[in-house]
Amino acid sequence: MKGVVLAGGLGTRLFPLTKITNKHLLPIYDKPMIFYPIQTLVDGGIDDILIVTGGNNAGDFLKLLGNGKEFGLRHINYTYQEGEGGIAAALSLAEFFADNGPICVILGDNIFQLGIADSAKAFEQQREGARILLKDVEDPQRFGVPVFENGKIVRIEEKPGAPKSKYAVVGVYFYDRTVFGIIKTLKPSARGELEISDVNNYYIQSGKMTYDVMKGWWTDAGTFESLLRANNLVANSRL
Ligand code: DAU
Repeated sequence: MKGVVLAGGLGTRLFPLTKITNKHLLPIYDKPMIFYPIQTLVDGGIDDILIVTGGNNAGDFLKLLGNGKEFGLRHINYTYQEGEGGIAAALSLAEFFADNGPICVILGDNIFQLGIADSAKAFEQQREGARILLKDVEDPQRFGVPVFENGKIVRIEEKPGAPKSKYAVVGVYFYDRTVFGIIKTLKPSARGELEISDVNNYYIQSGKMTYDVMKGWWTDAGTFESLLRANNLVANSRL
């Protein structure tokens, strides 16, 4: 299975930190943010990787990562997202790379304590549809939140004012080849983006979505609070 790291967008929630660089190049303890999702994919057995960058500093990714030698890779693929059309818009740029195969997508600002190898294996056996990871969090209103009925996810609500469960949909998604056709049917949300939760809702409605509840800590790093939290979690894990 191939892997896609989404590191586009403008990171405006971190202004002025992101005024002169890309969010994913900011430090998380002793490494640039982008190192963590790449390592998560590699540890999960995924070594054919596309990085979707964007903004003003795309060239810096090439300088920083090169061909991925530091991760034991022989090659890294790159592509460029213009503007900030949303996570699903960034993912649509991976269609050519995916080449009609299944993909694992990881958000460039998501940091995991433990690996995703078990979910990757489970998805490979699943053969079609999609698989998402959930984590119980204290602030689900900041995330995509699954709504359960009779133990089954019936939909995902993006950043709901009144979350209907304590879970966040974390930024790792496994999709079959149909994902790119689904993205083409999407309309921009109220915040003007093509939402990954709309992609996931499409799979839920087709009865083709599975999920795992993650072990270990997980955080995003796209706000000042979560950036600090990510730094502290990684630093403490090294002590
Ligand atoms: O972190 C998990 C959450 O990520 C999920 O629970 C939400 O359902 C999902 O919508 C997303 O929420 P955020 O609003 O926090 O996502 P954000 O806009 O911060 O984007 C996350 C990453 O996606 C970002 O680090 C880079 C990539 N991205 C985002 C946008 C908007 C792109 O590559 N291009 C984009 O246009």
